[in-house]
Formats: sequence, C-alpha cells, structure tokens
Amino acid sequence: MADSLTSETDPIEVKVRDIYEQAYPRIREVRNPIEAKKILREEYKLIVSEGLITLVFAAFIDGLPVLFEGPPGTGKTEIGEALLSLWAGRKAIILPCSENYDEYRVLGDFHPMKAYKEGFNEESFIPRPLLAALILDSGILIDEIRRSSEEFQNLLLDVIDKRRIIIPELKKVYKAKGIGFQLIFTSNPEDLAQNELSDAFMRRVVRIKLDYPPPDKEIEIIRLRLGTVSSLISEDMMMKGIEAINVLRKSDLMYKPGIADSVRWMGISARIAMLRGHERVSEEDLLEGAKATLLKRNDEEEAVIKIIKRFFG
Ligand SMILES: Nc1ncnc2c1ncn2[C@@H]1O[C@H](COP(=O)(O)OP(=O)(O)OP(=O)(O)O)[C@@H](O)[C@H]1O
Ligand SMILES: [Mg+2]
Repeated sequence: MADSLTSETDPIEVKVRDIYEQAYPRIREVRNPIEAKKILREEYKLIVSEGLITLVFAAFIDGLPVLFEGPPGTGKTEIGEALLSLWAGRKAIILPCSENYDEYRVLGDFHPMKAYKEGFNEESFIPRPLLAALILDSGILIDEIRRSSEEFQNLLLDVIDKRRIIIPELKKVYKAKGIGFQLIFTSNPEDLAQNELSDAFMRRVVRIKLDYPPPDKEIEIIRLRLGTVSSLISEDMMMKGIEAINVLRKSDLMYKPGIADSVRWMGISARIAMLRGHERVSEEDLLEGAKATLLKRNDEEEAVIKIIKRFFG
C-alpha cells in the first residue's frame, strides 16, 4: 500500500479542499493559553479558565484527545470547538454522534451509482469529516460520544493511536500532517439513554469535567453574552435569578436548565422590560421571562413556576 498525500495534487486531497475548505476556513493560530483566554472572551464570548485551556493544549502537545464530561449546557461543545479552532488555526469540524455511525459516515463513502459504473475508485469516493480533518490538519469535535456504538469508538481509537487513516478500497494510507489534527469528545455521563465508554477508550483520553459555574461566574457569562441590554438587570435580581436556577438544577426535575437557559431567561426578561417601557427589569418581567424560557415539559410546569415564585412575585 503506497503512502499518499504528501502532494497537494492527490485527488482525494483536492476533493477535501473543494468540499470542506470554505465551510472550515483558516483563522489565526493561537497556542498560548493566556492569549487564547483573551480571544475566547473577546471573540467567542466564552469565559474559560487559563487552567482548563492549559490542560487541553498540554494534551494536544502529547497527541492525546480530550474528553469533556458534564451536564447539559455547560459549554462542552462550544468551548471544545473554539479551542480546537484556535489550536489548529482553522475552524474545527463538528461531528454529532448517533448510534448508527460507522466508518462510511466518518471516514469516507462511495457514490453508489458512480461506484457501480466505474468501480470503487477515487472518482466515486466521497471523503467524510474525520478524514477531512486529518487531511486539513484541523481539529474535530466528536459530540456526544456516548451516543455512538462501541465499534465506532474502537475505530476512533485506531485513528488516535496511529494518527493515520487507511482506505483499503483505494489502497491508500493517509497520515496526519501536523499537530493541528486533534480530537475533543463530549459526553454527559448522567444521560441514562447513553452507552458506557470502554476502558480502552478512557485510557487514551484526558478527561476534563465541566460543571455549572459558581453564581458570580455565571452572572459574568450572562453579562458578556447579553452585552449592553444586561445593564437593565440589577446585580441583585441577577443573583436571585441564578439562585433560582441552581435550585432547579439540584431538584429532581427531569429538565435541568443549563447556562444557555439562564442567558436566555435574563435576555428575554430584559427585552420584556424594554418593551414595557421599564427602566429596570422588575420581578414581574423576570417571572414572565421564566415562563417563556424555563418551562420545557408539560408535567413539570407547575413545579418550575412554584420554585421561580419563591424568588420572584
Ligand atoms: N464558559 C462559558 N462562557 C460563555 N458562555 C457559556 C459558557 N458555558 C456555556 N455557555 C453558554 O451555554 C451555551 C451552551 O453551551 P454548549 O452548547 O457548548 O453546552 P453543552 O455542554 O455542549 O450542552 P449540551 O449538553 O446541551 O450539548 C452556550 O451557547 C453559551 O451561551
Ligand atoms: Mg453540546
């Protein structure tokens, strides 16, 4: 089997560039944690600690993939995508997992009609995201890894270990070109409908736990995300709101609000206040906002409103 792909004229490499380069353009490469922290805040509106960034970049230097584990809405996907993008200097590819994912969906596939007429060759081959990331030397975020099958996880382990992908039908081996090609997995271990991750998988990854932030951090995130409109919400109201959110998180309700929910709640409440001509967000505005953003299940509506009313109204 010939090693390919040092040449930019390889037909598969040309295809990858045609298909993926526009959607995943080059950006400035940033591998310094302090600089990355600043850019994450200013450009991505993400508040991430220098410690976490350092850990992720250290794993990348060692060629180890990272597993972000945590409850829903704690920034796993967005922070992962942003860190991979900065590290590689190219917008990262996101691959959402599902049970029926296999090598054809992630490495490459053959166009059925073309393969039927012309055979399994470069013409009929369609490169998929994991191969594309390897060829472009970019990062790939494998989202919700627990939703995939064990076979799929094993396939990934092989790619991680060898940093290469074999396409037997084409008699080709594609090797990673640099250290831009990195993987971040995300998972929510509390999600009951999901599969376990194997020991073989866990041995190979650096596991980083993400959790709900302390109230003052969450308020900082909300203010950063909402921009000037957040000045309508007093610090006091904001703090009470986050306290209510944390009661919901610790309750035995099925739906637990994530950070995105608290951002939306405060955002909508501020708009309601604006439209009502209020100078500041009132308790009533927050109650209305909560009804619009925090009620996610018919059978839990009453319980959620009861908790919110303990704080507002
Ligand atoms: N550290 C953070 N800084 C700024 N915003 C954040 C942060 N963490 C979470 N968020 C907010 O939460 C939203 C959800 O983040 P994200 O989708 O990445 O979470 P997740 O953990 O992948 O959730 P899910 O389990 O639902 O997939 C973001 O769009 C953002 O509004
Ligand atoms: Mg996610």
